[in-house]
Amino acid sequence: MELIDLKQLADVDEGKISREIFVNDKLYQQELERVFSRAWLFVGHESQVQNPGDFFVSRMGEESVILVRDKAHEIHVFLNSCRHRGMKVCRYESGNTSLFTCPYHSWTYATDGKLRGVPLYKSLYEGVLDKNEWSLIEVAKVTNYKGSIWATWDPEAPEFLEYLGDARQHLDLALDCRDGRPGGAEVVGVHKWVFPSNWKYAAENFLGDTYHNPSHRSVDLIGIGPSAEEGVKGRRDNELEYAQHVWISFAQGHGVHSAVQPEGQEYVEQFKNDPEIEEYFRNCYHERVRLMGDEARLRPFVGTIFPNTSFHGSQPRSLCTWHPHSPTETEGWRFFLVDADAPEKVKKFLRHYYMRYSGPAGMTEQDDLENWLYATQASQGTIARRYAFNYQQSLNVAKLDPVVYGLTIKGEVSTQVSEHMPRGFYKRWADYMAGKPWKELLGHNDTRFVPNQD
Ligand code: FES
Ligand code: FE
Repeated sequence: MELIDLKQLADVDEGKISREIFVNDKLYQQELERVFSRAWLFVGHESQVQNPGDFFVSRMGEESVILVRDKAHEIHVFLNSCRHRGMKVCRYESGNTSLFTCPYHSWTYATDGKLRGVPLYKSLYEGVLDKNEWSLIEVAKVTNYKGSIWATWDPEAPEFLEYLGDARQHLDLALDCRDGRPGGAEVVGVHKWVFPSNWKYAAENFLGDTYHNPSHRSVDLIGIGPSAEEGVKGRRDNELEYAQHVWISFAQGHGVHSAVQPEGQEYVEQFKNDPEIEEYFRNCYHERVRLMGDEARLRPFVGTIFPNTSFHGSQPRSLCTWHPHSPTETEGWRFFLVDADAPEKVKKFLRHYYMRYSGPAGMTEQDDLENWLYATQASQGTIARRYAFNYQQSLNVAKLDPVVYGLTIKGEVSTQVSEHMPRGFYKRWADYMAGKPWKELLGHNDTRFVPNQD
């Protein structure tokens, strides 16, 4: 049943999006059923479950799931709910175990999800209960992409790389080692916090909302970047000083803000307070250029993989998930990444920078949170709901697959600040909400992505 006219809710051609999609409970329930039960969702990182029995309790939509490595080293994602009466079989955030014993009546599951133990089985269930039928409920598909673990409940979902499309190259910039080796990251910590705002405010922000920079003015004035020294103001080092920034929308609903450095670009000095750390990152930069050649000129900023996984590719390097709690409440998780084989000193240095910047006490994240929560609050009233939000910025400016500083950039690309990424995101969001088939969700029928433009 269609609850409200989707075209009216998300009129991306006109650049108007209804406030209802940020506050309406019926739409929210429809999102849980039609977006979160189908899309690929990020659940954790392999470094969090390195050994057999290691587990990390994560979320998919509103639901608790267990990411676990079994005895045969295989990674699984299970619904964290007992098959008997639904008790959470695991109430810890992470750890190591050989069995999950349900606290309620003690049914016991192995790390491969199989039901192993049922108290008083012989006298109460023999001949009736087939344990093979009552394993933990497992996701339809799980994949390990360069250490990041993703899962979907939909057996019809395309393979993850098809789902990711050309956004892959940009996500790689967060997942790969600083010297260009593929993967190789580890999670040094996860911040978790709940905030009174719709999850899409956060997802949208990371699609590349550069326009909101003025709201970070106070942090920009004091300087909390890695160098954090006298005269180096801002939240980050100016590593993209000479780069052409690009804002990209992908057919699958993802969006990123990245940058292309000019040919022959030398390393821009960073980490000025510590020569050892400076030297480490300088070497990484040169090694990356050696390994990747011209492709090394693509540099990361931020992005969102549809629907609710975002990333900061470099400063502060992290993956985020925006878990929905209700139309007006979200739980944000930030997984902070470092190269697993980086020196301890580098990891410690980065951890401190990450904490200054991000999370509920981070100086930059606080600015964003304030915007999202006041905007949510001020959009719930009867009158406010009648008026759509404006998404008309840089309408019809983006080009398909342009060449920027000699590099072909795949996707719908703008070289000026733009809102075509949220327009693409909400176009795809409306398609999920309408229950469209996968072919359409991947953008195969999307005329924006038929290559024909200059
Ligand atoms: Fe888990 Fe009863 S609810 S054993
Ligand atoms: Fe921000």
